[in-house]
Amino acid sequence: MYKIMISTLLLAAGLCIGGLAAAQDAMPAARPAANADAYPSAPRDPALKPVFEQFGGKPGLVALMNDFMDNLVADPVTRPYFENADRDHIKAELVDQFCVILDGPCTYTGKDMASAHRGMDVNRAAFNALVQDLQSAMNKHDIPFRAQNKLLAKLAPMHRQIVTKL
Ligand code: HEM
Repeated sequence: MYKIMISTLLLAAGLCIGGLAAAQDAMPAARPAANADAYPSAPRDPALKPVFEQFGGKPGLVALMNDFMDNLVADPVTRPYFENADRDHIKAELVDQFCVILDGPCTYTGKDMASAHRGMDVNRAAFNALVQDLQSAMNKHDIPFRAQNKLLAKLAPMHRQIVTKL
């Protein structure tokens, strides 16, 4: 019963993020990609330091990203984007990005989200699939549901810079 509730909530979280993307797509004056550059890709949130610990600190994030990337390559929706990419580099950047968001002792030196994903034609389905692949990796690592949602809430608005296609 408990497991079913959690899965339902996870699905709701995924749908919520998808819903945010849908709302953005439905807006009559969609934000042009050039303006999206002005948005920070990884704002630090000191309130999330306890969440950083719940993720197992930086070693926890490194382990999480290995499974996340395995999921992305196994997922037919996201595989085309990642199979020929420098996956080790992306994982390292993701570790730093998530570490900064969760107020860990890291610095993110990667690209802003608009530049990193420009020209990839990432659509809403691919964005939602990536979120689900991250959720399943977080589940595998027994990250508490509330901690998962704290991170997801920070990632969700990034769809404005990343999703450039219906
Ligand atoms: C909230 C969602 C996402 C976050 C936080 C995120 C984060 C990142 C980061 C940090 C990088 C590395 C940037 C750098 O090299 O400096 C990156 C690169 C990349 N991302 Fe994302 N990303 C997201 C969504 C997606 C989606 C939905 C796709 C496609 C399905 C995608 C595909 C890629 C690819 C292929 C690269 C490598 C680009 C290259 O080779 O230069 N990302 N992403």
